[in-house]
Amino acid sequence: KMVWKLVFQLMLMFQVAAAAAPIARSGCPDRCGDISIPYPFGIRKDCYMNEWFAIECNASVNPARAFISRINMEVLNISAERATATVKSPIISSNCTGREDGVPLNLTGTPFVFSRYDNVFIAVGCNTQALMTGITPNLIGCVSTCSDVKSKNFCEALLPSSLQVFNPRIEATDDNQDREGCKLAFLVNHTWFESNVSDPFSLQSRDYVPAELGWAMNVNADDPVYCRGYYNESFRSECECDGGYEGSPDLGCIDVDECKESKHSCRGLLKCVNTRGYFNCEINKLYIALIATSIESLPTRKRKREMECALVKKSAICKEEGTKGKAMVPCLR
Ligand SMILES: *[C@@H]1O[C@H](CO)[C@@H](O)[C@H](O)[C@H]1NC(C)=O
Ligand SMILES: *[C@@H]1O[C@H](CO)[C@@H](O)[C@H](O)[C@H]1NC(C)=O
Ligand SMILES: *[C@@H]1O[C@H](CO)[C@@H](O)[C@H](O)[C@H]1NC(C)=O
Ligand SMILES: *[C@@H]1O[C@H](CO)[C@@H](O)[C@H](O)[C@H]1NC(C)=O
Ligand SMILES: *[C@@H]1O[C@H](CO)[C@@H](O)[C@H](O)[C@H]1NC(C)=O
Ligand SMILES: *[C@@H]1O[C@H](CO)[C@@H](O)[C@H](O)[C@H]1NC(C)=O
Ligand SMILES: *[C@@H]1O[C@H](CO)[C@@H](O)[C@H](O)[C@H]1NC(C)=O
Repeated sequence: KMVWKLVFQLMLMFQVAAAAAPIARSGCPDRCGDISIPYPFGIRKDCYMNEWFAIECNASVNPARAFISRINMEVLNISAERATATVKSPIISSNCTGREDGVPLNLTGTPFVFSRYDNVFIAVGCNTQALMTGITPNLIGCVSTCSDVKSKNFCEALLPSSLQVFNPRIEATDDNQDREGCKLAFLVNHTWFESNVSDPFSLQSRDYVPAELGWAMNVNADDPVYCRGYYNESFRSECECDGGYEGSPDLGCIDVDECKESKHSCRGLLKCVNTRGYFNCEINKLYIALIATSIESLPTRKRKREMECALVKKSAICKEEGTKGKAMVPCLR
């Protein structure tokens, strides 16, 4: 009972804090053209919380454009209440005629992360595999097969928590390609993607898609807590335990044993091993040779239907239930 009361009071506090959220510091410009610039962001010195939140406003163009200067990303909208900034997110492409590739992103060492709740990872293409690289310790991505309905040739994967690097590797999984083999991969606001994009291939004519950046402050890197908000007693919004943990940030986040609770997707010869915050599907070394041989020898169609996990370049890639295309869950080499 005490605990529930406490939780309730905390919830009330958060709501009050959110409602009273300030716009800009007093005496500071609160807009750049049409874009409102709330604290912790600011345009002038002493207006932002620290250099990371400095906004460069280019008013010589119409409408004016705002950039988070230190990471050189253009901002389309900022919500202080939700602690998210909508930014122009690059579209990484491969084999698309007449388009320039987007530049991969590395936000390591900055307070910015791609919000795992607001964004999804999308890969567009026929017989396409896209993997996010440069993130530890796991491998995340998805495989898009070829459909007769062209607009369905894409796949999506959920983001890991605290994603700061976006440098996908795009590959063809089969010689059967389409539209000159044009492939795209990007991080995008999933609501926007679902409501505004009917043909994902049409995005090849765009330079960017909108994605949501969150920011985390004063959170110990080892805490299994993810905060979308500016971490400050009076302005702490929506912190929660990382995926793979239960409980609450205030009362403690406890690791979920996915193996015991059958929340894993290791099938067949793969053995589930619990880790902090996640699980790994480990391949019994004795069987590696055996699996590899049976994958090679099965005819393609049969292989696709029967194999829930396949070996790709010595890593196991497993299908995750309830996602479009063939998403993969991270597995151990
Ligand atoms: C503002 O944008 C214009 C057009 O992109 C560019 O030529 C100019 O250098 C920018 N100004 C500043 C101060 O960045
Ligand atoms: C910007 O964000 C605010 C607050 O979330 C929202 O009310 C507004 O509609 C957004 N503007 C645009 C152009 O998306
Ligand atoms: C990202 O940047 C950090 C530090 O700036 C560096 O250590 C890391 O290797 C980079 N990651 C990628 C994938 O480029
Ligand atoms: C891009 O096209 C070239 C030549 O057609 C092909 O060799 C290569 O595999 C293609 N790459 C992808 C990722 O589809
Ligand atoms: C995502 O996009 C939708 C539709 O454009 C917008 O209403 C929503 O506010 C965006 N999400 C965030 C966190 O800004
Ligand atoms: C996205 O779709 C919504 C409603 O479906 C529309 O109001 C909005 O203008 C669209 N945004 C863009 C950038 O196309
Ligand atoms: C928290 O935010 C409030 C309002 O912006 C500010 O006055 C206070 O100094 C901040 N506290 C810390 C510890 O940063």
